[in-house]
Amino acid sequence: MNRSVFRKDIRPFVLWFVWLIALTLTIDYLLHYTQILWIERYLGIFGTLLIVFSFAYSLRKKKIITFGKPKTFLRMHEYLAWTGSLMVLVHGGIHFNSILPWLAIIAMLVAVISGLVGKYVLKKSMNTLSAKKEEFTGAGLTDEEIEKKIFWDSTAVKAMRKWRSIHKPITLIFGISAALHIITIFLFWRWN
Ligand code: HEM
Repeated sequence: MNRSVFRKDIRPFVLWFVWLIALTLTIDYLLHYTQILWIERYLGIFGTLLIVFSFAYSLRKKKIITFGKPKTFLRMHEYLAWTGSLMVLVHGGIHFNSILPWLAIIAMLVAVISGLVGKYVLKKSMNTLSAKKEEFTGAGLTDEEIEKKIFWDSTAVKAMRKWRSIHKPITLIFGISAALHIITIFLFWRWN
């Protein structure tokens, strides 16, 4: 099978994702080790707040907020949502008690993954793909040969171009399941 031409392009995406999971496991381990697990509850609240603040980007895009550069708000969205997701992941911990919060966590992870694809991978991969096409054309390959050579890469790029159509709708599923989880907690949970 044709080896991917844009292995290098996915490196920052993989690093940010692996970093997210590694930090989650490390913090979770440290909280267990030092027996200050109660912090996990509050990380859930802070993480959710960071993710909610990160939506200031949507308000800026829809011109409900008129100050500041949209690009700055987008950067803020990316870092706040990533950090908030880290806190929510630690909050979720490695325990499975009920389905609803896990649905929220899975939806959140899908949002993070698609966001990272949109930010780090897509543009670079598209550039690499067209550079490869040019190179093969320069080497005298026919269109059909080029299509064959880059089949898997162009299929991957086509799939990645859909990141936006995943990133936004999954937020709704994340929002609803997280809200239901929060309501249930406030109804049934004792804070002491
Ligand atoms: C909890 C996780 C996340 C949620 C729920 C979320 C949700 C959203 C939503 C709803 C939008 C659309 C804004 C609008 O058009 O009004 C958006 C845009 C965007 N997000 Fe995220 N996001 C998350 C994490 C991330 C992460 C970690 C990154 C990248 C590091 C990221 C990158 C982006 C980018 C690049 C856009 C811009 C899309 C555009 O305007 O064309 N997101 N996000």
